[in-house]
Amino acid sequence: MTPKTAQETEWMRQGGRQLGRILKELSQEVKPGVSGKDIAGLAAQKVKEAKLQPVLLGYDGFPDVICISVNDSIVHGVPTKTRFKEGDLVKLDLTVANRGMVIDSAITVFVGNNPPADVKRLIGGTKKALDRGISAIKGEGTRVGDIANAVQDVLNSYKLGIIRDLVGHGVGHGIHEDPNVPNYGLKGTGPVLPAGATIAIEPMASLGDWQIDVLKDGWTIAMRDHSLGAHFEHTVLITDDGAEILTLA
Ligand code: MF3
Ligand code: CO
Ligand code: CO
Repeated sequence: MTPKTAQETEWMRQGGRQLGRILKELSQEVKPGVSGKDIAGLAAQKVKEAKLQPVLLGYDGFPDVICISVNDSIVHGVPTKTRFKEGDLVKLDLTVANRGMVIDSAITVFVGNNPPADVKRLIGGTKKALDRGISAIKGEGTRVGDIANAVQDVLNSYKLGIIRDLVGHGVGHGIHEDPNVPNYGLKGTGPVLPAGATIAIEPMASLGDWQIDVLKDGWTIAMRDHSLGAHFEHTVLITDDGAEILTLA
């Protein structure tokens, strides 16, 4: 939670912009017949071309440069050779570093053209929860509970399951720094954020209940009730009077 220096922030800003662009480009390649491994290969190439460091590869032993989680798998998915098909809901979560400074962002992509109404609600609600969580940041002195509460309000209003056991986090010198940033909580509670702090806000929500399991690969986290899950994430800088999204293209 220690504020980053102006130089560190600038490295995160420049890396974050590249990360946003890469995620957007990858999302356009998520189509029927393409596999998670195909996307991961592209991701590795793009990260290298942008001169960013692929910090997920080898992190705690994670075997790839990107997390790809499909349908009822919600986060930390290991890319596989299984081809995407029309109607799949694919989460891409990419963490990279620029000059050692880490930025983290995730998006949810529907495979096909016209998501059913409940999938629209899931994607729309989770994305809006991220936007509202960011808008809840009023600069120096904002508390983590203010963000958590804003996220929770939106997810509840969209009648989505809120994954309780996974949280957003401080980010920068490493992937996971203090503080935890939960997706539910009370306004006016939790750590106070100083200007210059950088955090990853990442609502994770489902069309069903909140319980999760780790799959047999030891990584992929899936909804216990096999409901569809969505995930959006941005790395955000706390400014004097608001927030700056660092991972927009
Ligand atoms: N990008 C993930 C996050 O948002 C971190 C994944 S760690 C991994 O916190 F080891 F599972 F890849
Ligand atoms: Co992430
Ligand atoms: Co994260």
